[in-house]
Amino acid sequence: MSTNHLSVEALIANVLRIPEEEVTDDLEYRAIMEWDSLAHVHLMIALEEAYEIEIDIDFRITLTSVAAIRAYIQQHFSSNQEAATVVVAQSNDQPTVHRGLAGVVFDRTHTTLIDGKAGRLFYRGYSIHDLVQHSTYEEVAYLLLHGVLPTQEQLGAFQEALLAAREIPEELIGMISILRDARPIEVLRTGVSALAVFDPERDDTSKDALHKQGIRLIAQLPTILATHHAIRNGKEPVSPDPTLSHAANFLYMMQGVKPSERAVDVMDKLFILHADHGSNASAFTTRVVAGTRSDLYASLTAAIAAFAGALHGGAVENVMTMLNEIGEPERAAEYVAHLTANKQPVMGFGHRVYETADPRATHIRRMAQELSAEAGETNLWGIIEAVLEAMKPYSDKGIDVNVDFYASIIYHVLGLEQDEFVSAFAIARMPGWIAQAQEQIENNILIRPLLHYVGEIDLPYLRVDQRS
Ligand code: COA
Repeated sequence: MSTNHLSVEALIANVLRIPEEEVTDDLEYRAIMEWDSLAHVHLMIALEEAYEIEIDIDFRITLTSVAAIRAYIQQHFSSNQEAATVVVAQSNDQPTVHRGLAGVVFDRTHTTLIDGKAGRLFYRGYSIHDLVQHSTYEEVAYLLLHGVLPTQEQLGAFQEALLAAREIPEELIGMISILRDARPIEVLRTGVSALAVFDPERDDTSKDALHKQGIRLIAQLPTILATHHAIRNGKEPVSPDPTLSHAANFLYMMQGVKPSERAVDVMDKLFILHADHGSNASAFTTRVVAGTRSDLYASLTAAIAAFAGALHGGAVENVMTMLNEIGEPERAAEYVAHLTANKQPVMGFGHRVYETADPRATHIRRMAQELSAEAGETNLWGIIEAVLEAMKPYSDKGIDVNVDFYASIIYHVLGLEQDEFVSAFAIARMPGWIAQAQEQIENNILIRPLLHYVGEIDLPYLRVDQRS
């Protein structure tokens, strides 16, 4: 390493604008306010410029502590690999903590590829752009579960199996009546858990049994949601119609009338785009539960629980709350500025993996725009555009629009109640979760990461009457 170079510590201190004494080995990204994501980008650029190197993207995500950065730089310049290894080894006395498991690759998969840098998404090797244009939801569900696109005959048999499995047990309908005032996503989660009781083969994790369970779950979730929708609105549940596709039947059961071709086409495409999305929080949860050898119903109950949160699938409902709170396009800039000034996320923006726009968003935006125009929702669309404009400085930094932003308005125009949006999204995600549970089961390993303990030890124990 040339002596002209600043020391790593001095450079980090410079970029983060903190005293050099504070740049200690255990200082990590996000441990202090000054080392936030933007500062981290600046730091990587400064390192590249100062040392005239190009830091590979795979390394960038590991350079999250002073020790790791120094080890990396030394390794780069040292012809003596051993010395560098020693530094790495020393720095490992303090484990590198990957909070939120960000950037951690925990297994291999054949299911879905998200290329977050280029903004590309593939199910089983097929681009979602091709699938959304040429496929149907049933075909995509088959693809995710089986790993290959079906022949005409295989698709026919798969569709038949889904049609035959749509009815839910009478006891479950009774249970949904009891839960009429629960949130739809709570009914869905409880319904999936309850379905286990009606499956005598639920402990069978053979490929064949999992496949049958998967078909039943995909087929029955729309019926659970639609049954709850009818009961809480004081109506008779609508029985599934075996002549309709998955998307068409869902809309039919929700509304009690045959949906238009246009509505079915949009629903089908939205379902395709929502069918899987890598190892996000809910899919990871599915794998964690499947990895303990719990049954598929348990894995999917847990998946829905994880999915419902506001930072994950739940965002789709919060986007609508935000649009309603904004009320008119002219108020969007002020609303967004208020949120960002208070370090609150703007719903429908940002993603852990994409550094660019979510590839699904292009399709969803087009459908949302057309549907809003057809439904006369000009004010709502105006607010959408105004929020996008207000978020432009953030989009330029990689905090771009995500799939929930436009999905929200589509579900609204298609007539779903706001608290049903996340459930509709979960219904679409079933094949993805099931495929990932299958993959986990087929090549299982218990998922058990570590926590770095930073609390006290050897505290003197005082009996309860001795404590003040
Ligand atoms: N609005 C404004 N700022 C945002 C933002 C958003 N939606 N999402 C991220 N940011 C900012 C954060 O404030 C943070 O800035 P800082 O480093 O200066 O503190 C930076 O971007 C990184 O954000 P962080 O929350 O740490 O990223 P993450 O990868 O952990 O979070 C989400 C990803 C999805 C949880 C986050 O973007 C979010 O909360 N989005 C809104 C909810 C949503 O739409 N969820 C659906 C996801 S498909």
